[in-house]
Amino acid sequence: MLEKYIEKELISEQEIKAQVKKLANIITEEHKDHDNVLLVGVLTGAFIFTSDLMRELDIPCVVDFISASSYGSGTESSGNVVIAKDIKESVRGKHVIICEELIDTGNTLQALKRWFARQEAESVKICALLNKEERRQVDIHSDYPVIEIPNEFVVGYGLDYAGKFRNYKCVCVLKKEVYEK
Ligand code: IMP
Ligand code: MG
Repeated sequence: MLEKYIEKELISEQEIKAQVKKLANIITEEHKDHDNVLLVGVLTGAFIFTSDLMRELDIPCVVDFISASSYGSGTESSGNVVIAKDIKESVRGKHVIICEELIDTGNTLQALKRWFARQEAESVKICALLNKEERRQVDIHSDYPVIEIPNEFVVGYGLDYAGKFRNYKCVCVLKKEVYEK
């Protein structure tokens, strides 16, 4: 039923799974001697990516979520990053890995990186699944390999349009009619 709204699939479920596994292997190797890794998922979009990534990690780690966004309910970035909900865990002395499903302008991650660095984290890294390089406004990049996507508005695997379509297992572009409603 949900399929009828899809114009085209950009990244398949299989591709996403393979990339999540690849990222988890790198992070596991990097932190194999650490017992203070803190994954911070950026709500709401990264809730699926964060949980899939965590389940592939072979190290002890803690997860928490932060809510910060430069988006309203439409498709354009406002550039204003608001931290609406902070994490409960203490950051001090932790290896923080910020999990984000997609880097667009980079404004959100720039604000979050600064936010955690100020709280004396042992290290702060960014782990993003997807990247829209063309859209970048600030000097921010993922510390791990990313899947590059074109400058198109996408949904699925946690990404939404007006709160909907996060439950696609792939990353896709919606039909024009959906936005015209
Ligand atoms: P940034 O601050 O501009 O990098 O945007 C960060 C967040 O905006 C992403 O992690 C997504 O949650 C959301 N976003 C950016 N581009 C899209 C898109 O094409 N579809 C849905 N959400 C998006
Ligand atoms: Mg996001």
